Amino acid sequence: MADPEQYNPTRFGISTLPLNHEPYGPILPERLAGANKGKVAVVTGAGRGIGRAISIALANSGANLALLDILVDELEDTKRACEKYDGVRAEVYQCDITSVETVRRTFASIAGTLGPVDILVNNAGIAVGRLAFDETFEGFWKAIEVNFKGTMLCVYEVLRGMKERKSGCIVNMASRAATVDMAGGLSYNSSKAAVARATHSLQEEFEQAGLGEQLHTYCLHPGGVWGKMVTENTTPEVQAQIRSIFKDVPELCANTVAYLAAGRAKALRGCYFDCRQDVERVCSFGRETLDKYELYKLGVMFLPGYQNEP
Ligand SMILES: NC(=O)c1ccc[n+]([C@@H]2O[C@H](COP(=O)([O-])OP(=O)(O)OC[C@H]3O[C@@H](n4cnc5c(N)ncnc54)[C@H](O)[C@@H]3O)[C@@H](O)[C@H]2O)c1
Repeated sequence: MADPEQYNPTRFGISTLPLNHEPYGPILPERLAGANKGKVAVVTGAGRGIGRAISIALANSGANLALLDILVDELEDTKRACEKYDGVRAEVYQCDITSVETVRRTFASIAGTLGPVDILVNNAGIAVGRLAFDETFEGFWKAIEVNFKGTMLCVYEVLRGMKERKSGCIVNMASRAATVDMAGGLSYNSSKAAVARATHSLQEEFEQAGLGEQLHTYCLHPGGVWGKMVTENTTPEVQAQIRSIFKDVPELCANTVAYLAAGRAKALRGCYFDCRQDVERVCSFGRETLDKYELYKLGVMFLPGYQNEP
């Protein structure tokens, strides 16, 4: 997060189609009310920011919620916001997703209290943004622990149950950072790229098991959402320089998650999706087209004449 130039859009390209910065058409909350009625959803990092907004959007869509975070007071606020929706039950779990033992205990408790998990949203994440030259290995590894290990730990907790019930949706929070190289992004960008690769690979396993329609997973860029993740990691001077890049409300990603969980965008299953794009328009191109051109997947490009041969 050190160099504001890294947020210069001209470095990466500028969309010619308009991007969304708040909920639109198919992902308006009123279009999603009841879409996940009675399902059980787990949201990590539910205490604040995007995770809180995802929890509320899922509650609006009728899901019961297991809210996980290390911040207990914040979780209670999220719980209250979720339980404003008729018939929605929300339970709070203080859980550090990097602890194998705690995660296993938490998921066992969720199963006993709320029942089998239908929707897992791996949203918890941290950004460690120091240059590698100024960082220790331990500092570097911290983001891998939360962003990748924590995510995969939770995935493994739900995988077998979803396979047995032939039903389930997993949404992993990646980031645009997964797709670009940035000085200072060694741990954040590589941990998010690992999340994206794992999402693509996991869906391949679902397809191979003949369960691709029933088990669907996605990874997302939520947009640029101003909040503590950014402010806790930057000086006021840098914040002033980068504030204008963070244009998106957390509800943009949150309602996209409710839409995906409802199975309304299965053409994108296994893919990376930038929530600022129009999900309905992207899906209208169909899974075959997205697959054929390897769109919405991390990849490597070669010079003409060379192919990615096995
Ligand atoms: N804000 C953005 O612009 C942006 C952009 C791209 C990706 N993301 C991703 O979106 C997700 C949410 O971001 P945010 O802006 O809401 O961040 P945030 O820091 O406001 O919220 C993250 C939440 O995760 C929790 N958390 C951190 N470590 C944890 C752990 N070990 N166990 C359990 N919970 C833990 C935190 O307590 C916090 O409540 C993150 O994965 C982030 O990388 C955010």
